[in-house]
Amino acid sequence: MAESINGMKRTCMCAHLGVEDVGREVTLMGWCHKCRDLGGLTFITLRDRTGEIQLVVSPDSNEALKSKAASVRSEYVLAIKGKVILRSAPNEKMATGMIEVELDELRIVSESLTPPFYIEEDDNSNESIRLKYRYLDLRRPNMQRNLILRHKVAKCARDFYDENGFVEIETPILGRSTPEGARDYLVPSRIKQGSFFALPQSPQLYKQLLMLSGYDRYMQIAKCFRDEDLRADRQPEFTQIDVEMSFVDCDDVMATGEGFLAKLFDEVMGIKIDLPIQRIPYSEAMENYGSDKPDLRFDLKLKNITDVAKSIDFTVFAGAIEAGGSVRAIVIPGGASFSRKEIDALTEVCKTYRAKGMAWLVCSETPRGSFLKFLTPANIADIQEATGASSDDLICIVADRNKVVFDSLGALRIEAAKKLSLIDANIFKLCWVTEFPMFEYSEEEGRYMAMHHPFTCPMDEDIDFLESDQGRVRSKAYDIVLNGCELGGGSIRIHNRDLQMRIFKLLGFSEESAQEQFGFLLDAFKYGVPPHGGMAFGLDRMIMLLNNCSSIREVMAFPKVQNSSDLMTEAPSPVADKQLEELALSINVQDEEEKVIGD
Ligand code: AMO
Repeated sequence: MAESINGMKRTCMCAHLGVEDVGREVTLMGWCHKCRDLGGLTFITLRDRTGEIQLVVSPDSNEALKSKAASVRSEYVLAIKGKVILRSAPNEKMATGMIEVELDELRIVSESLTPPFYIEEDDNSNESIRLKYRYLDLRRPNMQRNLILRHKVAKCARDFYDENGFVEIETPILGRSTPEGARDYLVPSRIKQGSFFALPQSPQLYKQLLMLSGYDRYMQIAKCFRDEDLRADRQPEFTQIDVEMSFVDCDDVMATGEGFLAKLFDEVMGIKIDLPIQRIPYSEAMENYGSDKPDLRFDLKLKNITDVAKSIDFTVFAGAIEAGGSVRAIVIPGGASFSRKEIDALTEVCKTYRAKGMAWLVCSETPRGSFLKFLTPANIADIQEATGASSDDLICIVADRNKVVFDSLGALRIEAAKKLSLIDANIFKLCWVTEFPMFEYSEEEGRYMAMHHPFTCPMDEDIDFLESDQGRVRSKAYDIVLNGCELGGGSIRIHNRDLQMRIFKLLGFSEESAQEQFGFLLDAFKYGVPPHGGMAFGLDRMIMLLNNCSSIREVMAFPKVQNSSDLMTEAPSPVADKQLEELALSINVQDEEEKVIGD
């Protein structure tokens, strides 16, 4: 199929041409990337989504062609006819740099204002400007590569799941709130004034109901909406590759997920990954990496030195241990040479995660450290032995509640790896994190909350402790982690109504409130539920990680910025009074927040 405009038929794409096409008459269409007029000899670089090629208007051309070529400016849309010739001065930096197209015909299809920034691969213009003119930003080759990779990944997912008997089923965007843990985006109903739809945080409940309906292998490339604070890897509107299966246990869902990842890495990235992917129980991930999304591209494991700390007469350690916390350390190789300023910067990282401070120690012949006066030579030797540190290493220690210790040392581990350049950006390290705690204690709420969602099944061996020891109950949940980022997650669900009611009760729902919120699910559970489970991959995050992008905005065509607004369309925007009247809504306007992009 070839595009044509007013009798000109496109014969090929710019970057598909090569030396083998020399002598060929071609018709190309695209944008003027650059133009240079060297006194009678005009060069135009033409760009389409495959890349660029140089066009040349020779001094022997007719005057009309020459003067039209001289009037071309950047970003004009052109349609040209010409002959492929060898370049007398090849450009090695250009994929098509051996050839050029000598023009016979040039049409200026559309003119352009001078764009507010250069349409270049690595243009570092202010991101707000780029997002305001996103349609121009998307012309950049790296943005086009990202979006094309995104297409390939989505296609690979559909192919893989189709080959394995999955059916793609769309679920509603206007639905009922599902409790995934974030705030809902609400849509007021005009017909039922005062009532609201919630945009789906994920298709979780619908896909479970589809299992009940007998579609025992479901998948969907699904849009999800969560009104939560944005981060470099989080957007309010994002896409999941969502999967659910019946008559399965954890191993089945994980093996299917691995099958997809293997195909994806092989076919899209040209990388063979080893299966099965390593599995790390949650407790081990926290113990070793201080995180439930460990970056395995480098070592720097945490060391538990609580036992050694018990014999040290230092109130910070004693206080933490007495309060049920722990004392843990990270050894930074060669860190003995860090300046005070560098060590202070590491302390600041720990403080960001609510540690009150960071104790440090260098076990050289003349030991140095922030808490030396509390240490006997035997204490120093014990710490050195427990951490395995050598004399040119820096031992960083945090004593606090376990959550604070893990969060701060987990972050410090990554900071240290960056500082020591231990992270190879070209490798991909995957792992599953399994056996998550079923409940997480919320200091804010003063009670246990579901760590995943309330439909996650507890591990069989822990069910007996549900009422007696909530903290020790693990769930049949699993996350897939890539290079320290949560790529996806899922679980085996509860398919027994009584167990579901028991969990709701533990999460603080009364029988009535559970019925009110999830009545449709609980009712459905009376009609024969197959055991089922599933997972969802974050598609945007996947592209971001595969393409080594620092922000999720780089892999979405039209992303939002920090305050969840869209700088191009200026959404969200006020609506007409009439629209509000129809919805029976009135607005209590707050000051508009400053527009910020975020990290
Ligand atoms: P979960 O909430 O873990 O699970 O989401 C699955 C994956 O979606 C991605 N993700 C996001 N990506 C970008 N921006 C966001 N705001 C965002 N939030 C999540 C992550 C995450 O791992 N229904 C369950 C899945 C299941 O149990 O089957 C769910 O949504 O990569």
